[in-house]
Amino acid sequence: MATFSNLFGTISIISLVLTLQLACFANAQLSPDFYATTCPNLRGIVRVAMREAIDRELRLGASILRLFFHDCFVNGCDASILLDDTPTFTGEKNALPNRNSARGFEVIDTIKTRVEAACSNTVSCADILAIAARDGVVLLGGPTWEVPLGRRDATTASQAAANTQIPSPFSALPALISAFAAKGLTAHDMTALSGGHTIGFARCTTFRSRIYNDTNIDPNFAARRRTTCPSFAGGSGDDSLAPLDIQTPNRFGNDYYVDLLNRRGLLHSDQELFNGGSQDGLVRAYSGNQNAFYRDFADAMVKMGNISPLTGINGQIRRNCRVVN
Ligand code: HEM
Ligand SMILES: *[C@@H]1O[C@H](CO)[C@@H](O)[C@H](O)[C@H]1NC(C)=O
Repeated sequence: MATFSNLFGTISIISLVLTLQLACFANAQLSPDFYATTCPNLRGIVRVAMREAIDRELRLGASILRLFFHDCFVNGCDASILLDDTPTFTGEKNALPNRNSARGFEVIDTIKTRVEAACSNTVSCADILAIAARDGVVLLGGPTWEVPLGRRDATTASQAAANTQIPSPFSALPALISAFAAKGLTAHDMTALSGGHTIGFARCTTFRSRIYNDTNIDPNFAARRRTTCPSFAGGSGDDSLAPLDIQTPNRFGNDYYVDLLNRRGLLHSDQELFNGGSQDGLVRAYSGNQNAFYRDFADAMVKMGNISPLTGINGQIRRNCRVVN
C-alpha cells in the first residue's frame, strides 16, 4: 500500500512538473487569439487607422512595414525601435539605418491611443506594430496572413545592435545571408522578405554608389536615377527619393523581382539577389509567379515576427509606445 501511494505521489509530481513545463512553453508561443477576450476590437481599430493613414499618404504602408523589420532585427520584435531618445536614454531611432529614414511613428501613436481607449493596459506596442505592418501590405494589394500575438514591450533599446545587426544596402550576398541567418531566417526567407521593396522609397545616399559605380545595372535606369541623385555627397541631393520598385512603388506585387531580372534593382543589396548567385532561381520564380511570392512572403513575415518575443512576465505593456512606463 505504501508502495502504491508512493507511486501515485511520484506520478502526480511528474504530471505537475510536465503541466508547469507545458505552461511555460505555451507562454513562449504567440497566438492569433491572444486578445480575443481582452481586446476583441483590436483588429478593427488597427485596420481603420491604417486605412486612414494610407489614404493620407500611400507611402505609410511601406514605412510601417520597414519599422516592423527594423524592430524585429534588433533584440527581437519588442517595440524597441519606437522608444524616443532622451538626455538619459539612447534608443534606436538615431542608429544609422534609422536616422532620417525610419518613419510612421505617428501612425503607431494614433493606433495606440485608440487601443488604450478601448482596452487599457492590455495590448503591447510590439503587437500593434506587427498587425499594422500586415494591414499596410494588405491595403496596398498584397497577401494577408494571421498575425500571432502576445508579444510584450522592451524596457531597453540598443543603438549599437541597430547599427550592426540590420543589414546594409552596400553588402554583398554572403553578408546579407549571414545577417538573416543570425536571426534564424534562411536565404529563402530573405529573398521573399526582400520583396518588401515592392513598395516604398529610398534616399540617394543609400543607392548613390550603385548608380555611379555598379556594372550589373541597366544603363538607362542608372542614367535616369542620376538625374535626381548627384554623385557628390553632402548636398541637398542626399535626401532625394527614388522608388525601390520602379514600376509600381505604391502597389504590393511581384514587380520588384521583374526589376531585378532587368538589372533595375535600386539598392546594391537588391541586385545582389540576382547577380549570378544562389538566389537567382528564386528571384526568377517569384518574377513569374506572384502567388508563390505571396505565400512565401506571408510565411516569412510570421517567422520574422517570431524573433525573440518577450512573453509572459517579461517586459511590459507600454502605455505610450515612445517611453518606458
Ligand atoms: C535584405 C536586406 C535589406 C536591406 C539591405 C534593406 C535596405 C533598405 C534601405 C537602404 C532602404 C531605404 C532607407 C533610406 O532611404 O534611408 C529600405 C527601405 C525599405 N525597406 Fe528595406 N532592406 C532590407 C530588407 C527589408 C525587409 C526584410 C523589409 C520588409 C519585409 C524591408 C522593407 C522596406 C521598405 C518597405 C522600405 C521603404 C520604406 C519607406 O518608404 O518609408 N526591407 N530598405
Ligand atoms: C566610385 O568608385 C570610386 C573608386 O572606388 C570612388 O572614388 C568614388 O567615390 C565612387 N563614387 C560613388 C558615387 O560612390
